[in-house]
Amino acid sequence: MDLERYKPADVEALTAFLRDADLTLSGLDAPSVRLWLDRDEAGVIVGSTGYEISGDGHHALIRSVAVSPMQRSRGRGGGLARFALDRAVEEGANRAWLFSRRSGPFWRKLGFESVANDQLTEALADTHQVRLFQQTGQLEREFAWSRALTAI
Ligand SMILES: CC(C)(COP(=O)(O)OP(=O)(O)OC[C@H]1O[C@@H](n2cnc3c(N)ncnc32)[C@H](O)[C@@H]1OP(=O)(O)O)[C@@H](O)C(=O)NCCC(=O)NCCS
Repeated sequence: MDLERYKPADVEALTAFLRDADLTLSGLDAPSVRLWLDRDEAGVIVGSTGYEISGDGHHALIRSVAVSPMQRSRGRGGGLARFALDRAVEEGANRAWLFSRRSGPFWRKLGFESVANDQLTEALADTHQVRLFQQTGQLEREFAWSRALTAI
C-alpha cells in the first residue's frame, strides 16, 4: 500500500476523520505513536492506520485503523491493518494488541484472539491509549484482542 506518514500538520484532518469513525482522537502526536494516512486523488484522507509501541518495544497497540464509509468492504481495511502489523514487526515488536468493541470478526480474520483486558493493560501500561481508557473509565466498555507477530 502506498501510504503517507502522518505529520503534525495533518492533526486537524486526521482528528476529523477519526471522529467520523468513532475512534480515539488523542495522542496523535505522542512520541510512541506511529500513524499513516491513505489519501484519494484529491488529497482527502480515505484511510488511516497505526500503532503505539510499548516502552520496551516488544508490544504494539494497533490503533486508528479506519476506512471511509464509501470505500469499505473492498479489502482496504485488511490492507491497512496488515501494513501496521508489518511496520510493528520491522520495529521489533513480537505481539500486537488492540481494543475493539464492534469489529471483532474483522480482527479475528487477521489472526487476533479475544484476551482479558488485564493482559493488554499489563503489557501496554505505559501507552497513551491505556492510560486514557483507565482515566476515563472506557476500559470497562472495551474488548481486548491480541496476536503473536510471527509469520504474518
Ligand atoms: C473495521 C474497518 C476498518 C474495516 O474496513 P473494510 O475496508 O471494510 O475492511 P475489509 O474490506 O478489509 O474487510 C475485511 C472483512 O472484515 C469484515 N468486516 C469489516 N468490518 C467489520 C465489522 N465491523 N464487523 C464485522 N466484520 C467486518 C468484512 O465484511 C470483510 O469480510 P469479507 O472479506 O468476508 O467480506 C471499517 O469498517 C472501519 O473503518 N470501521 C470504523 C473504524 C473501526 O471500527 N476500526 C477498527 C478499530 S479497532
